[in-house]
Amino acid sequence: MNQPNEPTLAVDVYRKRRERVLAALRTAGGGVAIVPTAPEVMRNRDADYPYRHDSYFYYLTGFTEPEALLVLDASAGPDEASSLLFCRAKNSEREIWEGFRFGPEGAREAFGFDAAFPVDEIESQMPSILSDKPALHYALGSSAELDAKVRGWLDAVRAKARSGIAAPAVARDLLPLLDDMRLVKDAHELSIMRRAGQISAIAHRRAMAACRPGVHEYELEAELLYTFRKYGAQGPAYGSIVAAGANACVLHYPAGNAIARDGDLILIDAACELDGYASDITRTFPASGRFTPAQRELYDIVLAAQQAAIDATRAGATFDDPHHAAVRVLSQGLLDTGIIESGLFSSVDDVIAERAYAPFYMHRTGHWIGMDVHDCGDYKERGAPRDAQGALPARTLQPSMALTIEPGLYIRPANNVPEQYWNIGIRIEDDAVVTPDGCELLTRDVPVKADEIEALMQQARAAAAAAQTA
Ligand code: GLY
Ligand code: MN
Ligand code: MN
Repeated sequence: MNQPNEPTLAVDVYRKRRERVLAALRTAGGGVAIVPTAPEVMRNRDADYPYRHDSYFYYLTGFTEPEALLVLDASAGPDEASSLLFCRAKNSEREIWEGFRFGPEGAREAFGFDAAFPVDEIESQMPSILSDKPALHYALGSSAELDAKVRGWLDAVRAKARSGIAAPAVARDLLPLLDDMRLVKDAHELSIMRRAGQISAIAHRRAMAACRPGVHEYELEAELLYTFRKYGAQGPAYGSIVAAGANACVLHYPAGNAIARDGDLILIDAACELDGYASDITRTFPASGRFTPAQRELYDIVLAAQQAAIDATRAGATFDDPHHAAVRVLSQGLLDTGIIESGLFSSVDDVIAERAYAPFYMHRTGHWIGMDVHDCGDYKERGAPRDAQGALPARTLQPSMALTIEPGLYIRPANNVPEQYWNIGIRIEDDAVVTPDGCELLTRDVPVKADEIEALMQQARAAAAAAQTA
């Protein structure tokens, strides 16, 4: 499995991405692009949050050290450096405390930059790099700190005006270009995402197998975190949701201290980040190992909604099609179970038109996934004609776009809702890659059908019981 900073595996992948950006910028008239990595963030006195690089920076470099900045100079001549890195200098003292640093020369060689400089030289070098360049491309207005730095560099160039040196006359947002590149995954990305999905699936299987009435939510979270690290992932891609019983109706409930009781469902939305790529899985299963009839009824509706959304996910469909397909199945299920009073609506179309499903299904059916769990990329067709209400059309799906498919139902107690469904929260989530005629699911190494979940849990219990008596 790839580890971060194993540049020999992927150096060409990152170099080619930089070349694509440079080619696009040249077509747009040239200029200089700058992409900083993320800052280190203090958690509390002397203890930092675990460091996580910036996704855009990593996408173009593969470099995971903090205090680094990429410069792409699309106005450089053929013999000049167009791909430059600023990074931390070698420092034998600091490396004793904090570990290995590539240093500029090591990074240049290992990651394939044309030139690299110590980050301490950024203030002195950037004004020359920006001199007489037509445009500056960066994440415009996304960080006050970066905006202030850019302003300082531009001021320094403008101070040389009497020598006939001009500052870039144009600043452009670089992110739409990078977002569109990141939205369509390449083979290198897909292979990491497949592995991330497999590891997360193993973690869900382990949590299902470890589950018993009486278990705390945090104990199941421990099974997940153990598995992520055991199989080489760097950690969770987002805060793990482990919700027992009524807690499953709280959409962003974090794993807590609650005890799963016989008769509860447990909803786990948790997955790993591997080598900079997120996965995102939700499974819902009974603490006892057997769904009650009411739980099973709702579970099968959510599963059918997910299947309808999967069937609607293919190249040429729109991003909204899987959502509409899931909403239709969920709405019919809500009518069939009497959770929505059928007397109030003449048809499922009415339920959809009135959004009567929304108290029980209040989120969308998916989001882009990639380096970020909620990955970058427009959900609408930018620049397309707007409809009569002024809305842009939904994005058309293309092969190798990746998205989640995650319908759910969340039934809070209410007088007009049959009591057997109260406090049931169910979500089923898988990660999909769009193919020309369908989609590839990356996260199906964990069971999703109710019978298969029950079988896994029964087997785990039988194996545990046999081990105790042996
Ligand atoms: N786990 C975050 C999400 O499902 O969107
Ligand atoms: Mn998700
Ligand atoms: Mn999720």
